[in-house]
Amino acid sequence: MKHITVGITGASGALYAQRLLHYLDKSPEVGRINLVLTAFGVTVIREELDLDVTGTKTSDVETLLGRTSEKIHLLPAKDIGASIASGSYRTDGMVVVPCSMGTLGYIAAGIARDLVHRAADVTLKERRTLILVPRETPYNAIHLENMLKLHQAGAVIIPASPGFYHRPTTITELVDHFVFRILDHLHISHSDETVWQGRRKQ
Ligand SMILES: Cc1cc2nc3c(=O)[nH]c(=O)nc-3n(C[C@H](O)[C@H](O)[C@H](O)COP(=O)(O)O)c2cc1C
Repeated sequence: MKHITVGITGASGALYAQRLLHYLDKSPEVGRINLVLTAFGVTVIREELDLDVTGTKTSDVETLLGRTSEKIHLLPAKDIGASIASGSYRTDGMVVVPCSMGTLGYIAAGIARDLVHRAADVTLKERRTLILVPRETPYNAIHLENMLKLHQAGAVIIPASPGFYHRPTTITELVDHFVFRILDHLHISHSDETVWQGRRKQ
């Protein structure tokens, strides 16, 4: 059973995180999800999803998911001493979704000011899967350099740029298709319906 870490930071796109947690929680291949919300992650969740989360209370999980979960465990962002801050705690990967340019910069610089930075740093040093979902537009040279640096250090950069070739008719369909790409990189199964089968015949 996989152990996955999810960090939610203060970039736009909280819905991607909410849907990813939904699928990770439902997956029989996933045993535990350690969740960290930064202070600005909390702000954006409130702003975009209208949900009253705190970043510190265990009830945040139910608020975010709309149901209780035995798999998802909230760890406060200030708790640099939490399990996932150590390489000795084995995980099968970490996703930072959405990933702000601030958090991206900290990770690229190797600076750990909160648990998201530290857990990401540990994931890289242990050569485990680190997926970053940056969201900013346009990118400046610093953003682009940081992304290249992180790619070269082993991270997988999956920018929050969903496809349209599956012809989504709702925002949830659009977001879920994107979330399935993240699951692909975590080697977690999902519905095959979204796999591109080649161009439709006219
Ligand atoms: C509503 C809202 C939306 C934001 N959207 C973005 C964004 O899309 N990308 C980004 O890099 N920063 C965005 N920011 C700014 C970040 O939240 C800010 O840089 C913050 O310091 C990031 O901190 P964190 O990485 O610890 O969460 C947004 C802030 C707010 C309040």
